[in-house]
Amino acid sequence: MLNPTSIATRTDHEGLHVPAELDASLRARQAWISPKFLYDPLGSKLFEAICELPEYYPTRTEAAIFAAHGAEIAQTVGPGCTLIDLGAGNCAKAASLFPLLRPAQYVPIDISAEFLQDAVGRLQQRFRHIEMQALGMDLSGPLTLPDSVRASRRLFFYPGSSIGNFNPDEARDFLQRVHAQCGQDGGILIGIDLAKDHKVLDAAYDDALGVTAAFNLNVLNHVNRLLGADFDIRGWRHRGFYNADERRVEMHLEAKSAQLVTWRGGSRRFAQGEWIHTENSHKYRQSDAVGLLEQSGFAASRVWTDPDGWFAVIHARALSH
Ligand code: AVJ
Repeated sequence: MLNPTSIATRTDHEGLHVPAELDASLRARQAWISPKFLYDPLGSKLFEAICELPEYYPTRTEAAIFAAHGAEIAQTVGPGCTLIDLGAGNCAKAASLFPLLRPAQYVPIDISAEFLQDAVGRLQQRFRHIEMQALGMDLSGPLTLPDSVRASRRLFFYPGSSIGNFNPDEARDFLQRVHAQCGQDGGILIGIDLAKDHKVLDAAYDDALGVTAAFNLNVLNHVNRLLGADFDIRGWRHRGFYNADERRVEMHLEAKSAQLVTWRGGSRRFAQGEWIHTENSHKYRQSDAVGLLEQSGFAASRVWTDPDGWFAVIHARALSH
């Protein structure tokens, strides 16, 4: 239901690209907002702050896995790959691996091409021998890469458990599309958050400082700008908790009192206590993560985890078609 990257756009009379999907998802019986809208400029900063929180373990646990097993990961991958960074953002994660992975080519992909250009420009100064090409692409579309991206030894890099925003079926579809672009001797290096005690997960997505609450509520600011809506942030409460049956963390916004919200082209009343679903963050058992890759045409070659078994970094080779 919540696809982070699918976005239908139409152009309104002011020439702005207004996400038609947002209009539809706010009208749905169970209202929802795609998690991709969490990342406006402030939302991106709030997510960076989340990564610094004591309760939010995924970022630092993944970094610890790379720090502890970097040499082995590099050995498994081998030097000279074309590193294709899916959802690269500021490119910092991939860049920290350059000295280990020693890629021949670096291809960061993100929906915001301008933001990428800046980061890549700076990186190119530091790593002159790596050929770099930034691509502005929506990952929900076909992943077809231009001819300038070498067709052999492609390594798709998908860290941070971004895969968790997809439900398992969508995740398989996405990985199949990645697999279709792997070419000769291609593979994937992916970070996946693992299922664990619900108390750890509840705290990670509902932290004491309220940063995750601000991150979640800020989506309403973004929607206000995108749709000319009039959500009153103070009328809503953050909910973030582990749904063990679905093996996912869910984020919602709950109306503190009855709300009337109006936007360009629509309006809706929300009853007190009614929820807007804003994110799913699926957690996997290690065996299910490996199974998901296998169903998508990959063979997992290595799995690295932290001592607590909270997070997994997996390298998988693309099997030929
Ligand atoms: C960026 C999707 C991996 O699911 O943990 C953090 C986003 N949401 N806190 C995650 C997020 C609430 C994050 N991902």
